[in-house]
Amino acid sequence: MPSRIVTLTVNDQDVEFLAKPGTTLLTALREHLGLTGAKRGCAQGGCGACTVIVDDRPVPSCLIPLETIDGSAVRTVEGLAADGELSPLQQAFVDGFATQCGYCTAGMLMSATALLEERPNATREDVIRAISGNVCRCTGYAAIVDAVLMAADAQRTGDARLVAAE
Ligand code: FES
Ligand code: FES
Repeated sequence: MPSRIVTLTVNDQDVEFLAKPGTTLLTALREHLGLTGAKRGCAQGGCGACTVIVDDRPVPSCLIPLETIDGSAVRTVEGLAADGELSPLQQAFVDGFATQCGYCTAGMLMSATALLEERPNATREDVIRAISGNVCRCTGYAAIVDAVLMAADAQRTGDARLVAAE
């Protein structure tokens, strides 16, 4: 099959790729756009390290052929901070010590971002379900779940640092 042109919006920028059949979204992000926040872990859909948001849904980018998402809007961890300010979720991860090696962090952040956009009042069970596809070898998950809940509070009150200090 010949290569084809695929157009995406990545973190609000229009991008065009000449994509060989089967080229994954993860490869396009990391190797063609230099967006290395999404990590290549298992490359089989099992670890969540490559999670990005496509059209408001978290997906494992290692399993997404570019040609299947032509015209979509993609968000990566690089797009979370706005004007140099961490998102409330990123700030909660920092304040809540929710990251150690950090390999899983980008994927966790994207899964949790999608959750909090869909459910601003997410419960602990919602958070656990939302990140169930994101494997972390370091933290034992409790700090991550607490940070996501902290961010949900922060989004409601408008200040992550205030919530973290309580
Ligand atoms: S690298 Fe995509 S799920 Fe593991
Ligand atoms: S912080 Fe190391 S894998 Fe999650």
